[in-house]
Amino acid sequence: MKILIIGGGGREHALAWKIAQSPKVTELFCAPGNPGTAQVATNLDIPADDIDRLLAFALEQSIDLTVVGPEQPLVLGLADRFQEKGLKVFGPSAKAAQLEGSKAFSKELMQKYNIPTAAYAAFDDPDAARAYLKGKGPQVVKADGLAAGKGVFVCANEAEALDAIGQIMNDKIFGESGSRIIIEERLEGQEVSLLAFTDGITVLPMEAAQDHKAVFDGDTGPNTGGMGAYSPAPVFTPELKQEVIQRIMVPAVNGMRADGIPYQGVLYAGLMITPNGPKTLEFNARFGDPETQPLMMRMQSDIVPIMEACADGTLDTCSLEWKPDTAVCVVMAAEGYPGSYEKGRPIHGLDPANSLPGVTVFHAGTKQAGEDIVTSGGRVLGVTALGDTVQKAIEKAYQAVEKIQWQGAQYRKDIGQKAL
Ligand code: AMP
Ligand code: GLY
Repeated sequence: MKILIIGGGGREHALAWKIAQSPKVTELFCAPGNPGTAQVATNLDIPADDIDRLLAFALEQSIDLTVVGPEQPLVLGLADRFQEKGLKVFGPSAKAAQLEGSKAFSKELMQKYNIPTAAYAAFDDPDAARAYLKGKGPQVVKADGLAAGKGVFVCANEAEALDAIGQIMNDKIFGESGSRIIIEERLEGQEVSLLAFTDGITVLPMEAAQDHKAVFDGDTGPNTGGMGAYSPAPVFTPELKQEVIQRIMVPAVNGMRADGIPYQGVLYAGLMITPNGPKTLEFNARFGDPETQPLMMRMQSDIVPIMEACADGTLDTCSLEWKPDTAVCVVMAAEGYPGSYEKGRPIHGLDPANSLPGVTVFHAGTKQAGEDIVTSGGRVLGVTALGDTVQKAIEKAYQAVEKIQWQGAQYRKDIGQKAL
């Protein structure tokens, strides 16, 4: 099989690393990829959102399966355009990707199908949004559209919520993504990510993972795309998992189908485990980053037949095996991230870190510059280790992290502690 992966971050390196191990694969391409994907695939100099060129390449090469990493090409209709030409895609249509692309859409689906989530209201008018806040407890203000994971303000009080409305709707810091907002009750608890494969009918859940969104230790500082992740998540008991599958994942997939928008690909549920049970914070239409890095390290089964079955509608014939080990991924980021940061700093120690047993260094924001690999993004590397206990996985991941240096590298020192 010839497979094309779309994207160029840490998630895509982890997907490429896993897909390359499949005996079914004869050729693997990644557009645009990064120096990590270049170790296992042929990188293409085509941006992830240039659907015309991606489609031309896939047709010319007779690609058997295209796997879409990021949300943007899905929301832009990559799957629809490829399928019109008879090409097989792992990932939802543009309409189905609204589950991530529009928070109002996903909240309406949850309300319609009784999927547990925070109480909310949607607004097009900032004054109406401000009026709604009166007398409410702590709220969360979210831009409706895509905002690269940064469109959510978790507010402690009304003043903060008013400020968030002003930034999103009046100052338009997320552009048109903020023409509409969602205001919802602030939930308390531990967060868990549950990802499932689906062909639109069958739901095949993966193991749970836990992300670390805040930039600093102890979950302090501003939210990022994710500073580290681990799997499994001990807080997520088998009973909780069953409850989430029955009350959240299956109703979402069935609801989409009933509404005439069948959903195929990965369904990612961001969950808050509250004292009143699990509630849905958001749905994403893709694999999580960095959750994918530990998940791919733990997945025992060949992922390629499962992705094909999602595209073919035959997922009922598939099952998934996992390594019992824990995987821990520590994200190493550029100085200043999630604010502005410098690029082009040479990275040292990649090979010694990567050659430690049970360790894989997944590249995210890196670039080849002559002989050097240099930083080229905010989240630079996902240093991931497997261990037969949580403690050992944490120790191994940090041993590897300590072998890697560049000027200004920052990382959290407490990834995985919640699992102990
Ligand atoms: P979202 O993109 O909707 O998942 O929001 C990003 C992050 O904001 C989540 O991972 C949570 O940490 C936080 N968040 C979102 N909604 C809520 C909520 N209703 N209550 C508390 N925290 C939230
Ligand atoms: N790690 C969070 C996300 O991928 O949305």
